[in-house]
Amino acid sequence: MPTFYQQILENNKKWVAEKIDQDPEYFSSLANGQKPPLLWIGCADSRVPANEITGTKPGEVFVHRNIANMVVHTDMNMLSVLDYAVNALKVRHIIVCGHYGCGGVQAAMSNVSIGLIDNWIRHIKDVYRLHADELDAIEDNQKKFDRFVEINVIEQVYDLAKTSIVQNAWNSKQDLWIHGWVYGVGSGLIKDLGVNCKDNSELEAVYKLNF
Ligand code: CO
Repeated sequence: MPTFYQQILENNKKWVAEKIDQDPEYFSSLANGQKPPLLWIGCADSRVPANEITGTKPGEVFVHRNIANMVVHTDMNMLSVLDYAVNALKVRHIIVCGHYGCGGVQAAMSNVSIGLIDNWIRHIKDVYRLHADELDAIEDNQKKFDRFVEINVIEQVYDLAKTSIVQNAWNSKQDLWIHGWVYGVGSGLIKDLGVNCKDNSELEAVYKLNF
């Protein structure tokens, strides 16, 4: 009986053989470069694989994932991915995809210390504080949790819109949309939250940049 570790290497060999069987040029054409139309910013949660849940193939989605799909404006990793996606790959859509049952968001609702990660979770606590009136008014804890997941995604959409990278692209008339989604790990279904930014008009005045 193969271990999981051996099994995944075997899976890779089988996958390569299947792909080449369907299209002998499959890997050689992928090797020519990428032109994905989409940047995905999602949670690191193992149950939310960007390609699989959207039916997209290798080469179609540029992916950045971290705990609770956060857009932290001093995060060089996120900024580098964003800059490359917007300015080099010229993606047309950026999707922030959260998910119900997100452990990071749940931790932000609690006061229990879980170590170093408390400092990452604090960004999500800041989102709670911004929306405390709405969230505190929800008595049912599950409903509050679900709504907090949604609100966190919406805030990350606006945090993307606030970046110099995105505003500079909009200023240059680049066709670039930002969307907010929540994935249901228990249903497999994606909910489009209806936040679709294509310019900085919805930002509060203090965040608007002049170029
Ligand atoms: Co999560």
